Amino acid sequence: MLSKTIQEALNKQVALEAASSQAYLAMASWADIQPGLQGVADFFYVQSDEERVHMLKLIKFVNERGGFGIVPHLGQPIITFVSLKRVFEEFLSHEIKVSESINDLVHMALQEKDYATHNFLQWYVSEQIEEERLARTLNEKLELIGEDKSGLYLFDRDIQAYRLQSEKKG
Ligand code: FEO
Repeated sequence: MLSKTIQEALNKQVALEAASSQAYLAMASWADIQPGLQGVADFFYVQSDEERVHMLKLIKFVNERGGFGIVPHLGQPIITFVSLKRVFEEFLSHEIKVSESINDLVHMALQEKDYATHNFLQWYVSEQIEEERLARTLNEKLELIGEDKSGLYLFDRDIQAYRLQSEKKG
């Protein structure tokens, strides 16, 4: 059985994952209407779906442990961006925020000696390492490319290929 504190904290994480899904959906939609950013759009459409899966896993876990997974109220995310660079900066800062939140949850689970929740959260810890690494790499690439149009073309193509590869890996 989950403690009230852990349950509330997990439900806060549900809301954060849902907000991530919304934020990335908005990035996908913005990229979708820019010329030449189809790869970026596809990347964020999939990223948005993944965040929904993160949210669902949490809801199901809370319910399995005798709690109640709360479907959150959502505000509108940022829907327009001044540049592609800005999109990816936002992506990275969002992922950093999610990692910090997961770390706080892990800490709380240990403090409360809730080892089942601690164990469950390990998947999120690994996932966040991956997501942060990916977001940093993409930001570094964009930094190198700057305003170079052919570089941006390749970036868009590569990010699409990356997504297809990771989908194959499952
Ligand atoms: Fe589920 Fe990317 O945080």
